[in-house]
Amino acid sequence: MKRLKLKSNVKKIGFIGLVVIIFLFIGIFSTIKIVKQKNYEKTYEYKLINKGYSTNEAKVLEEKYKNKELDYILNGEKDLVYVNLAKEKYFIYDKFYTYLDYYNENKDKPLRSIVEKVNTNTNKEYYTDPMEADISKKELMLVNKYYYLNTDYEPENLVTISLNYSYGDLGSQKITEDTYNAFLNLWKSANDEGYYLIINSSYRDYPHQESVYNSYKKQGTEYADKYAARPGYSEHQTGYSIDIFEKGYSSKDFEGTDSYKWLMENAHKYGFIQRYPKDKEDITGYSFESWHFRYVGKEAATYIYENNITFDEYYAYFVK
Ligand code: DAL
Ligand code: ZN
Repeated sequence: MKRLKLKSNVKKIGFIGLVVIIFLFIGIFSTIKIVKQKNYEKTYEYKLINKGYSTNEAKVLEEKYKNKELDYILNGEKDLVYVNLAKEKYFIYDKFYTYLDYYNENKDKPLRSIVEKVNTNTNKEYYTDPMEADISKKELMLVNKYYYLNTDYEPENLVTISLNYSYGDLGSQKITEDTYNAFLNLWKSANDEGYYLIINSSYRDYPHQESVYNSYKKQGTEYADKYAARPGYSEHQTGYSIDIFEKGYSSKDFEGTDSYKWLMENAHKYGFIQRYPKDKEDITGYSFESWHFRYVGKEAATYIYENNITFDEYYAYFVK
């Protein structure tokens, strides 16, 4: 009898123990779940989804922005402009607030254009807040209506262009040695195809550019600024720019020549780009110049050619 009672007591205790353990586990699991949920609610993913962004949109936002921007985004209404901006190919993180300011003033413009304008500073008037050009970038240095060279800047490695390839008196046309070597390769390839390229203008020092600009200025500042750079703001002062014609032609008719077509298809293979293209006047600030080529090296030239962007934007995204 005693043995039987003992057995049933052990069974009872065992059962109660099991029930306690089960409740304990349920308790632990529920606590873990609650803590997990509480922690998840603290994440940006949760907050963004709660704001109305989809899981994918929240992912894009979290990938591109840091806490400061995410807090800013969460502070306002849901707006897909943040997501679409982040998806832009040439989006630069540091320019986020400038993109937004410019977008708010220009809601009719596509975001591609907002990014392009802000990256190239052309959201501001030309010559606003000019900065000194970073000459340490060498063939990738940017000189435009926002980046200038000092009055006395002269490239270190200028060489004289042979009269075989240039107009003017011997010694009057110079470019940097790397530009010259690249040009000679380009010239030979073009010549093998039956074209005779000739350089009409090359390195121009500050006083030379001043006289070029002043001759245009006789027709007014607005006119001059379309066709010539103000002294200090000309790429010709870098020694990496050349104005190329087909021998016997001039700037006016060069665009119609086969040499021009050949250059447009092949210049990048030798490290040159057309610097002031037809459809990019609002970015470069200059009227289309079929003849003005700039040496930037093969990698940059190929990228710019294949992606149809300006050197100004390439510089902002890849060089600066
Ligand atoms: N014509 C180009 C823009 C210059 O003057 O540098
Ligand atoms: Zn030029």
